[in-house]
Amino acid sequence: MFRFIKSTIPRPSSFMPATERILQIHNMVSPQKKSHSTVAFIGGGNMAEAIIGGMVSSGHPSSCITFSDLAEQRRDYMKSKYPDIESSADNLAVIAKADVVILAVKPQVLHTVVTGIADTLQANKPLVVSIVAGIAAADIDRWIGGSQSSIVRCMPNTPALVGEGAAGLYATEAVTNQQKDMAEKIVQAIAKEYSWVDSENLIDAVTAISGSGPAYFFLIMEAMENAGVEAGLSREDAKALTIQTCLGAAKTAQDSDDDLATLRRKVTSPKGTTEAAIKALEDGHIRDVMGNAVKAAFRRSHELAELFGKQ
Ligand SMILES: NC(=O)c1ccc[n+]([C@@H]2O[C@H](COP(=O)([O-])OP(=O)(O)OC[C@H]3O[C@@H](n4cnc5c(N)ncnc54)[C@H](OP(=O)(O)O)[C@@H]3O)[C@@H](O)[C@H]2O)c1
Repeated sequence: MFRFIKSTIPRPSSFMPATERILQIHNMVSPQKKSHSTVAFIGGGNMAEAIIGGMVSSGHPSSCITFSDLAEQRRDYMKSKYPDIESSADNLAVIAKADVVILAVKPQVLHTVVTGIADTLQANKPLVVSIVAGIAAADIDRWIGGSQSSIVRCMPNTPALVGEGAAGLYATEAVTNQQKDMAEKIVQAIAKEYSWVDSENLIDAVTAISGSGPAYFFLIMEAMENAGVEAGLSREDAKALTIQTCLGAAKTAQDSDDDLATLRRKVTSPKGTTEAAIKALEDGHIRDVMGNAVKAAFRRSHELAELFGKQ
C-alpha cells in the first residue's frame, strides 16, 4: 500500500544480450526518437525549477518541456539556465501540446489558474499533475469541469534541487497505467525515494513528513550549531560538524538493516555522553514535540484544502 521505490536509471551493461544493449544505447543517444512525453509547467518557481533540472539531467529533451510564469524576471532567470526550454506568460500557450500539465503554483492561485485553462484541459485531456499542497484532486477536477479528469497529486520536497528528493504520489481512478508511467518518469528525475499511496489522505501525511520535513532538520541543525558555538567551537566548525553528522546518520540509517531505535541504542553506551544527551532530549519530550509538528503540518494541509479548495 505504501511502498518506497528506489529510482534507478538503467545503464547499458556488457552482460546484457546484444540486441537489448543496442536498443538501450539507441534510446540513450537518440532521446528525441524515444517516446518522451511533452510536459508543461504552470508556474516556474522553485519546485518547477527542481523538477525541470532533474528531467533535463536525466535526458528528457528540453524541446519537450515548456513552462509559464507571470513574472518576466523569473522567465529570464530560467531562460539563462535552460535556454532551449520555451516559456510564456500565457498558461494556455504552453499547455497546447502537452501530454502532462504540472500545476506548480501556490495553493491560493490554483483556482484562478485551473479555471483559466479548464477548456483546453477538457478538450485535450492531458494528465494533470498537481504538486500543490493541500488542494484535493476532486476540487481540481470540479474546476476543470467535473469530467473525471486524470489527476495525479504529487508531493515532492526541496532536496530535489540537489538530486536527493523524496516524494509521494496519488492517482485518481481515471489515470491510466501509461499515464502513471509518465508521472513516474518525471518523479524518478527528482526523487531517490518515491511511493504511490492508495488513499489521497496519505498525501497529506507525505506532506507532513517529507514535504515539510527538510525544514524540521534545518531547525534541529540550527539548534545544534548554536549549542556547539556555546560549547566553544567556531561557528564554521560547529556548522560543518553538525551537517556532516546529520548526513552520516542519514546514510548509516539508509544503509543499515537495523531499525532506527536499534541504531540509536547502538551508539548509546550505558552511562556515557550520548546517554546523558538522549535523557535530556526525552526529558524535554522530543517525541511529543516532533509528533505535534507533524500533526500541525497535516492539519494545515486540510486547512489549505478548506481555504483555497472550496471555491
Ligand atoms: N517548496 C517546497 O518545499 C514544496 C514542496 C512540495 C510542494 N510544494 C508546492 O509546490 C508549489 C509551488 O511551490 P514553489 O516553492 O515552487 O513556489 P514559487 O517558487 O512561489 O513558484 C510559483 C511560481 O508560480 C508563479 N505564478 C503565480 N501565479 C501564476 C499564474 N497565474 N500563472 C503562472 N504562474 C504563476 C509565481 O510567480 P509570483 O512569484 O510572481 O507569484 C512563482 O514564480 C506550491 O503549491 C507548494 O505547495 C512546494
